[in-house]
Amino acid sequence: MRVLVFGSLNADHVYLVDHFLQPGETLSSEDLQFFPGGKGLNQAIALKKSGADVSMAGCVGKDSEALLLGALKETGVDISLVRVSEAPSGHAIIQNTKDGENNILLFGGTNQMIDEAYADEVLTHFQTGDVLILQNEISALPYIMEKAHEKGMDIVLNPSPADEKILKLPLHLVDILILNEVEGEALTGISKDQPESILTSLHETYPQAKIILTLGERGAMCAQGVQTLSCPAFPAKVVDTTAAGDTFTGYFITEIMAEKAVEEALKTASMAASLAVSRKGASVSVPFRDEVEEALKKIIDQGGF
Ligand code: RIB
Repeated sequence: MRVLVFGSLNADHVYLVDHFLQPGETLSSEDLQFFPGGKGLNQAIALKKSGADVSMAGCVGKDSEALLLGALKETGVDISLVRVSEAPSGHAIIQNTKDGENNILLFGGTNQMIDEAYADEVLTHFQTGDVLILQNEISALPYIMEKAHEKGMDIVLNPSPADEKILKLPLHLVDILILNEVEGEALTGISKDQPESILTSLHETYPQAKIILTLGERGAMCAQGVQTLSCPAFPAKVVDTTAAGDTFTGYFITEIMAEKAVEEALKTASMAASLAVSRKGASVSVPFRDEVEEALKKIIDQGGF
């Protein structure tokens, strides 16, 4: 079984700010750091750090090639399918406050240059039973989903960020849907303050899929078949929440591919995400498997689980 992340690569420009910029305000930031990011890249790195063998497909501009492909290569992600273009790369402007809050402004750049011909070329390398992991930061998503489904690949979708495009995706083709309450509200129209209702609604509409709803510090819930499971979040000193969801997704999918029980997968993924929020940056904040296992063991030894 092969695993493909077909997704975005962004150069993250992270500005440390006292508070989020207000309309009409000019604000001096206290620090600027550059990190490799993009939900696709972050999830590919999380999959690899959690122990999966993973290939990445996507398009990067020459301007950020060294930063982005360097990070993937260093972690051991297969980058042979990634395209390099003369056009500007995707990037993100991230405001990060001292209490760990962030907001993100995206520029799609080369992430929006994915076309059907490139998707066809990438998918020739995969077959029935292989796993495809997608987010909502690249072009041609509906086409990629349809072609992957025709091939018999298992489709994992993290419909993030939430925008009008996620309403047009062929969600009936998805095998595992991982989303947060904001994305849940966008898909169902149910308030993000009613996560149980969101989960029920998604489960009724897409009964073929395992649905995982992540709730930040309130943990995560999963609906599959007749079961609903939940897992609390592990306490963390929050420094930067960027890529917490990507870390969760990477770890959860690795555990499911290794045929672990969903409860186990939720627990491992939640612990990985809680370690990620205690560190700065996107993919650089994703913990390695031995760190996650050690942290879980500590909690178990303390009688926490
Ligand atoms: O999920 C975090 C990511 O969202 C960042 O790395 C940024 O690039 C945006 O894609």
